Amino acid sequence: MQVAVKVADISHEVYAEEICTMIEKAAKQRGTGIAKRKPEYIREKIHKGNAVIALAGDKVVGFCYIESWENRKFVANSGLIVHPDYRKTGLAKDIKSKIFELSRKKFPQSRIFGITTSLAVMKINSSLGYQPVTFSELTADETFWKGCQNCTNYDILVRTNRKMCLCTGMVCNPSNQAESQNHKKKNGSWNYFKKFLKSQSEHFPMKSSLYPKISKILHK
Ligand SMILES: CC(C)(COP(=O)(O)OP(=O)(O)OC[C@H]1O[C@@H](n2cnc3c(N)ncnc32)[C@H](O)[C@@H]1OP(=O)(O)O)[C@@H](O)C(=O)NCCC(=O)NCCS
Repeated sequence: MQVAVKVADISHEVYAEEICTMIEKAAKQRGTGIAKRKPEYIREKIHKGNAVIALAGDKVVGFCYIESWENRKFVANSGLIVHPDYRKTGLAKDIKSKIFELSRKKFPQSRIFGITTSLAVMKINSSLGYQPVTFSELTADETFWKGCQNCTNYDILVRTNRKMCLCTGMVCNPSNQAESQNHKKKNGSWNYFKKFLKSQSEHFPMKSSLYPKISKILHK
């Protein structure tokens, strides 16, 4: 069935609970303790026009929303989820492109950033012009980092004084607008990103059993 990816509006607030369940189930499957989202929070994002939804007919199959930090200095495109039956068809890429475009429109001066252990997300972010960075380049907003408290790896973040963890930080600076739109640079960004991962892993060995796909890239 054809999937429509659009900016969510109030008619989509009915999907809030289902979206939370999808996010929670996926986090359990991945073994990460991702911050639990409440339906009210999702409804608020939809209400403010800060979310993108993917629908197959009247069934919700994907979602993502915008959060802003430090008085709009940073924004994150968070809560990305694609229903298991619709994965690996390019849907996450479409959702992220749409939310990226919306973030640029609503927060033109902000740096768009994210932290992730997901290879799929790293690939998508690279193609949008994000660059991998150390955590020093991300928001210092305490509320953002509190979201990591439920993660199974939180002890590492605390032990390193928030300097590093198993997630990779990625940022897209508004001044790199041209780069983000230049899809020809996709492979360049990806190669740069692989180099970055390798250099990080020298300081911070990664448990290959936890992240086999990333380890495979590092040791190729
Ligand atoms: C991560 C997720 C959103 C990807 O959704 P998707 O629709 O399958 O992704 P796409 O089809 O758009 O794929 C984008 C790219 O990632 C790659 N990819 C997708 N799933 C992958 C996987 N499990 N492992 C490695 N690469 C993967 C695709 O091949 C594609 O690469 P390409 O650009 O080189 O072709 C989806 O698996 C999901 O909802 N997972 C659970 C929630 C989650 O992990 N969210 C991210 C939190 S940071």
